[in-house]
Amino acid sequence: MFSLDGRKALVTGAATGLGQAISAALYAQGADVAITDMPGAGLDETAGLMRGGGDIMQAAIDVRDLARVREGCAAILDEFGRVDILVNNAGINRPSPGLEVSEENWDDHYATNVKGGFFMAQAIAPSMIRHGWGRVIWISSQSGLIGIPGQPVYCSTKGAVIQLVRTLGVEWAKHGVTVNSVAPTFVETNLTRKRLQDPEFRRFVLGKIPRGELATPGDVAAAVCYLASDEAGMVNCATLPVDGGWTAW
Ligand SMILES: NC(=O)c1ccc[n+]([C@@H]2O[C@H](COP(=O)([O-])OP(=O)(O)OC[C@H]3O[C@@H](n4cnc5c(N)ncnc54)[C@H](O)[C@@H]3O)[C@@H](O)[C@H]2O)c1
Repeated sequence: MFSLDGRKALVTGAATGLGQAISAALYAQGADVAITDMPGAGLDETAGLMRGGGDIMQAAIDVRDLARVREGCAAILDEFGRVDILVNNAGINRPSPGLEVSEENWDDHYATNVKGGFFMAQAIAPSMIRHGWGRVIWISSQSGLIGIPGQPVYCSTKGAVIQLVRTLGVEWAKHGVTVNSVAPTFVETNLTRKRLQDPEFRRFVLGKIPRGELATPGDVAAAVCYLASDEAGMVNCATLPVDGGWTAW
């Protein structure tokens, strides 16, 4: 079960953190994988961690740049022939309490976390629809399901992602394309490391997770591989928490 042999995948934000683990996991399950990130982010480390026999393609795509999104996706579609699995992983979180949020902070979050993934999906879905099979998988967040003080803009972008998942999943279901998201709790990556080093914040986080542990990049990657598989064909418009139970109470 859950083999991705012969599938063609594309991951955004693949240079580090969750995107790196997701790329390696999809590749290990048998997919060819296009790894993409911001220009200059450096994808060689990720490519070096990928163990398997498929093809790896690297491309610089800043998901905020619509022209580049279209051009980069066209080049990957040209090279791979099609893309079956799109993982919209690229995202930022620059916490700022509501009273202090700047316009720039607002616009950066929405350009990366919402607009970026939407136009990636719009560029890739026609190929999925043509082939009658596709998986669009967003990395949303538990922050799209609950409010976390200090990061109202981030939480709202992840809520928007969960609504895109529902709506696009309904639109594309008849073509064999599912649209889902994985909603992790805190994972220690470049995005969160500094905050998690604050003992008070770490205590707050661990106190909210009934399992009493942070999630790992591998936990998130495994959920992505499941949603990408043939076996998950009836799972659509869903958001799968990988949160040790945080959002249940
Ligand atoms: N780490 C967590 O605790 C956590 C929890 C829930 C959800 N998430 C989500 O998971 C995703 C990955 O997070 P992470 O922890 O690996 O973060 P990270 O900061 O370690 O990695 C994010 C990657 O995205 C890339 N990126 C940022 N802006 C981009 C852009 N405009 N275009 C292309 N690439 C861009 C970065 O260069 C980086 O390689 C994000 O969407 C994040 O919101 C993370």
